[in-house]
Amino acid sequence: MKNNKITQLFNIQHPIIQGGMIWVSGYKLASAVSNAGGLGLIGAGSMYPDVLREHIQKCKKATDKPFGVNVPMLYPQIDEIMKIIVEEGVKIVFTSAGNPKTWTAFLKEKGITVVHVVSSVKFALKAEAAGVDAVVCEGFEAGGHNGREETTTFTLIPMVKEQVKIPVIAAGGIGTGRGMLAAMVLGADGVQIGSRFAATLESSAHDNFKQTIVNVKDGDTQLTLKELAPVRLVKNKFFQEVQELYKQNPSVEQIKELLGRARAKRGMFEGDLDDGELEIGQIAGLIHEIKPAKQVLEEIIAEYNLVKESL
Ligand SMILES: Cc1cc2nc3c(=O)[nH]c(=O)nc-3n(C[C@H](O)[C@H](O)[C@H](O)COP(=O)(O)O)c2cc1C
Repeated sequence: MKNNKITQLFNIQHPIIQGGMIWVSGYKLASAVSNAGGLGLIGAGSMYPDVLREHIQKCKKATDKPFGVNVPMLYPQIDEIMKIIVEEGVKIVFTSAGNPKTWTAFLKEKGITVVHVVSSVKFALKAEAAGVDAVVCEGFEAGGHNGREETTTFTLIPMVKEQVKIPVIAAGGIGTGRGMLAAMVLGADGVQIGSRFAATLESSAHDNFKQTIVNVKDGDTQLTLKELAPVRLVKNKFFQEVQELYKQNPSVEQIKELLGRARAKRGMFEGDLDDGELEIGQIAGLIHEIKPAKQVLEEIIAEYNLVKESL
């Protein structure tokens, strides 16, 4: 797509970004998306620093196209992660879950293109003021962690577009060409897609989790754990336990205790569908098949063009 701010910003063919996803987006998925003409992102959030370095090195071998790294800023060893990103010559970084002021200037000084993920107009303005090159505006429908305000993608995009000058990338609830077109009509310059790419052959999600994504229907996910970090989860046994605990008006400590450690890894990477945390977006109700990432991307673009013509 020519004359598009996102394809120009990243030097890619299609304004489609594969969102960074803990336990799901390693170098295999990122390189497959980049090779297909989108922008693949390695999800650093679930990787120890040396594991991230390995994924970056393998990604460089697997593609000669641009790719990036997503860094959730609540990551404990973030200094080391950023050091590795610079040492390995990564050119694009998407930051999330934190203050965009903290790392943007450092990364920009190294010549890195920086994008920050937000879920409100207020934070989009903060990110713009911090000097980022673009914002990802993620609505309530999205898989993974999200804003407390529950602003939907459909309302967030035009509201952000009205206030910021930098390019806007829509995320949350997009998994088809129709969805992408709708987001672009609302003012987005490109889209970031997570859930649809989680159910691909190259995703590192456990097969049990991929199959769950295919089985999920509308109403099968919910945003929860708002006292800690709001996250959209499949309503499995663990989710029901959280709901039971809420009936007792629990303290934050009690919620933390129930969550325990490594729930997300157990669910999404190890395939424990009962006791693990299963993060996926509402659009999973429209995901019916596990496919190669290239096919997903090509089908989105084909449908986008077809529907655009027919309108
Ligand atoms: C399993 C899963 C893990 C995710 N992990 C992260 C993450 O580590 N960092 C981040 O910024 N966003 C994360 N996200 C959000 C995605 O990058 C993306 O913005 C979101 O999935 C878009 O909405 P969609 O799921 O409706 O496509 C995650 C999403 C999913 C489904």
